[in-house]
Amino acid sequence: MNVLARYQVTGRHAQEIVASVEAAVHAGQLAPGDALPTVRELAAELEVSPGTVAAAYAALRRRGLVVTAGRRGTRVSGRPPLPARPAPPRRAGTHDLVSGNPDPELLPAIGPVLAGLAPGVRLYGESPNLPALVDLAHAQLDEDGVPAGPIAVVSGALDGIERALAAHARPGDKVAVEDPGYPPVFDLLAALGLAPEPVRVDRGGPLPDALDRALAARPVALVATPRAQNPTGAALGAGRATELARVLDHHPDVLVIEDDHAGQVAGAPYRTLAAGRRHWAVVRSVSKALGPDLRLAVLRGDQDTVDRVEGRQLLGPGWVSHLLQATVAALWADPATTRLLERAARAYADRRSALVAALARHGIGGHGDSGLNVWIPVKEEARTTAALLDAGWAVAAGEPYRLRSAPALRVTVATLRDRDEAEQLAAALAAALAPTRQTRPA
Ligand SMILES: Cc1ncc(COP(=O)(O)O)c(C=O)c1O
Repeated sequence: MNVLARYQVTGRHAQEIVASVEAAVHAGQLAPGDALPTVRELAAELEVSPGTVAAAYAALRRRGLVVTAGRRGTRVSGRPPLPARPAPPRRAGTHDLVSGNPDPELLPAIGPVLAGLAPGVRLYGESPNLPALVDLAHAQLDEDGVPAGPIAVVSGALDGIERALAAHARPGDKVAVEDPGYPPVFDLLAALGLAPEPVRVDRGGPLPDALDRALAARPVALVATPRAQNPTGAALGAGRATELARVLDHHPDVLVIEDDHAGQVAGAPYRTLAAGRRHWAVVRSVSKALGPDLRLAVLRGDQDTVDRVEGRQLLGPGWVSHLLQATVAALWADPATTRLLERAARAYADRRSALVAALARHGIGGHGDSGLNVWIPVKEEARTTAALLDAGWAVAAGEPYRLRSAPALRVTVATLRDRDEAEQLAAALAAALAPTRQTRPA
């Protein structure tokens, strides 16, 4: 529906039109995905020149509030960069398999670690990185075959991705991204004025042909998720990683950013595409393994990229608090954490395979070989998610995760602790997908 039918954009000047759209997005009168009127329609409605509306739309686009997608016109972006409105409450008893969160029962207890810390006084001008944390991170990344390089400590995977992009890309540049992929990465590109170049992903990760085509459009960077791919649960096998690296070899100037957001609980070996690259960054977050509130990731990359990331970080937040760095270092150094993370990786693998097996028993295809999610192709996302919600299961429609790829559902299995629940969910999905029974006319 064209939004003019239910929200009247106002303004005589571009800035006023921008303010009117922004206020409506903020108030929820314009929702993510809503189509704005065409430039001509709105210009006629407001009795201003098309140039004024075009300037307003360009400003909204630069700020990531709207996206323009060919024939789909100009739409409110999936996650506009404004304070999020709280999600409407769900019916009591609904299983939340939407949020993408780790299972709180599989996260280490932070309290005892904090109680054991003896933080000294730290002042401006000291080294941004805690040596104990950096040493532990180097050991982990070396073991996973990540190329050698310096480390910056950043505030989570997305922060690392944003900083690596900002170190190399300029507004208007293209960035190759996985499709399906992680919507906040799409939204981040929009907010930075960068254009996504989709790379189709199958169960084994990005497709080499698709990467080749995307790279022909000359993006400055590729953002890839070698394991725990969100939403498909893909993980690169050795063969696919080699094929992708070969494609990348023809484009030595492309910055490769790897998002290892699930780190030690991904349940699949790490396979990097960064080896031998001129510019690269591997970002390993602790969000899924140790808890998202730690807001910490380590970014290893080439010297230029890490220098630019750290230099820019110094101008803003300065550094990641050493209280957080010391907490993560203490957790990483504790053999009990290693045992817990191994248990967590096994539990997530069991939960993924329990759901995939239950779906198969109902004749439904789905896959998730790594991480927290299972991806289930369906024809009609909205109708299926609504039917599942009625049956007490909140799962994500694939739409926000897709650029050009086919419809599907994303189920976060992190808290699907019991096999019976996997079976019940599969049965509910089978019922939702069953063709509606036609009653015979009397
Ligand atoms: C693919 C992907 N990247 C990044 C993140 C966010 O990680 P962080 O909390 O470290 O920013 C997530 C969170 O679910 C994710 O799925």
